[in-house]
Amino acid sequence: MADDQVSMVKQANDIVEVIGEYLPLKKRGRTYLGLCPFHDDHHPSFSVDPTRQIFRCWACGKAGDVIAFVQERERLGFREALELLARRANIPLRRSRSPGEQNERLRLFDLMKWAEERYHHFLLTAPEAEAARDYLAQRGLTLDTIRRFGLGYAPESWSWLASQGERAGWPDDLLVTVGLTARRDSDGSCYDRFRDRVMFPIRDVRGRTVGFGGRILPSSPNASTAPKYYNSADTPLFTKSDHLYGLDQARSAGEKEGYLAIVEGYTDVLMAHQMGIQHVVATLGTALNVRHIVQLRRYVPRVVLVFDADAGGERGVDRALELFVSQDVDLAVATLPTDLDPCDLLLRHGPDAFRDILRRAVDALDYKLDREMTPDRLATVSGQQRALDNVLSILAAAPEMPGQQGTVRRDLILTRIAQRVRMDLRSVWNRYRELVRQRRKSSEKPQAIPASTPETSPRSAKADPAEVQLLQVLLAEPALVGRALAGVRLDDLRHPGLRRLLEIQYGLHAEGIEPSVDQLRLRLDDNPPLAAAALRLQVQGLDVPDRPAVLDQLMQTFKRRREKLLAGRLQGQLQSIPSDAPVPVELLRKLQEIAEEP
Ligand code: CTP
Ligand code: MN
Repeated sequence: MADDQVSMVKQANDIVEVIGEYLPLKKRGRTYLGLCPFHDDHHPSFSVDPTRQIFRCWACGKAGDVIAFVQERERLGFREALELLARRANIPLRRSRSPGEQNERLRLFDLMKWAEERYHHFLLTAPEAEAARDYLAQRGLTLDTIRRFGLGYAPESWSWLASQGERAGWPDDLLVTVGLTARRDSDGSCYDRFRDRVMFPIRDVRGRTVGFGGRILPSSPNASTAPKYYNSADTPLFTKSDHLYGLDQARSAGEKEGYLAIVEGYTDVLMAHQMGIQHVVATLGTALNVRHIVQLRRYVPRVVLVFDADAGGERGVDRALELFVSQDVDLAVATLPTDLDPCDLLLRHGPDAFRDILRRAVDALDYKLDREMTPDRLATVSGQQRALDNVLSILAAAPEMPGQQGTVRRDLILTRIAQRVRMDLRSVWNRYRELVRQRRKSSEKPQAIPASTPETSPRSAKADPAEVQLLQVLLAEPALVGRALAGVRLDDLRHPGLRRLLEIQYGLHAEGIEPSVDQLRLRLDDNPPLAAAALRLQVQGLDVPDRPAVLDQLMQTFKRRREKLLAGRLQGQLQSIPSDAPVPVELLRKLQEIAEEP
């Protein structure tokens, strides 16, 4: 989809008019004011600027353009929001992504659908699938569930799917790309990766299959050596660590119940749904992370994390608590009886037992406090101090939630802690601030090598103010990207999310396309949180008065940083030279150059 279509849609949909259809707005000077629809607002803090065509809430920090508003309000992706607005303005949209991309995606969807049908059909009809059918029946899964979730079976063969794919005309490269087949090193021929496995189609929130999980049949000759589960590959459609299994089917039940429950396994989801508890999803063998929460938060205000009594463990609870602090979500922890996963529990004790466990879920903070504030700890002052520190240091480690809302949230949390430990609120605050300061200090050590974290949401990692400001400036004024190119390198940015944004801007610039936020969004369709962050940064950047001057300053900052890093490295080299050996002239010269820089 071309940028001109995006700007066309924006031009045809005045932001004041569109937002005015959702909430009453009053003109106040240059802007319009209303109650923010994104948080519990009592004074009008939500302003709409007709000149800049942006909205912004001073209280909760949400900001963006008309498309962002519709996305947020209607819980839509960028493209869908764009379509909705296009329809509103009677603009026909050409349905083409940046060349090739759209086609590629459609093809991947088609391939996944085709594969799902092959596996499913085989499971239901083939004589060779008898053992798989027996296995699923013995696990207590009904035909209805198998149909509803599209379960399938990949037979014990090295070429079953590969040869069917060939017959159906699928390029073998495509099957390799999605990880259903792999290439042999010896002769480059392809073989099936999934053999003798029950296949669980993994679907996106709209119910389209985007990947698979495969479980080895226990009767398989390889059952003891092969991994129990594995997944098809990550593709533009599917990221294992972001995905929530069953969300498509759980979403509306979750909206009704007011929360979604998160379990660990495919079978847990299947059994819960089969027994009528449909607000249940699973992560795909990875710990709950910020991206999961951001997705869930679109549908429900509350999440209940179901832990095994033992396996869930302290670490999982601590992580969950961090998420709770930094994200606008109510998070509770439900604990299973020892040695039972939800699937077993449901089979053994029925749906009411599981419902009961969900109902008895404890707020994540209380859960942690209960664990720390044991009677014998509370008996001594030092024990009490330690318990308090254990809880506060998790809060101190959590990324800060921006804006007023974040402050209020932290305030509430600390108040609750103070009440629990029966301590003066001020002392709890002081201790908390001290822990935050300690953390900052230790993370500011100069040679901190960029940590490569998989997190891409800017909230998920502490961002350096200079890096944030750089993106604010460049997103608000894309014409400055060319200038930045000369003085800021991608690896100057430590924050993975911000680096990604800069990378896309540089890429667009190189292609001769204006690196505007709208163009950026087209390339961030797979990462709505990051796209939303880009918009926020842009709006913040619009308030920066002399952007070119700020950029020049930032370029100086990054340059000095690089030099410091280099100097550190050269010093290291210098020190590693034996004292009786001559120091290479080259090394001395470089060090001198750095020292002489203004
Ligand atoms: N998992 C995985 N790889 C493994 C084991 C587990 O990806 N080798 C993931 C799967 O998503 C699985 C989840 O972790 O659903 C939970 O694991 P487990 O409890 O072992 O699987 P169940 O779904 O309970 O499957 P089963 O009852 O058939 O053992
Ligand atoms: Mn299990």
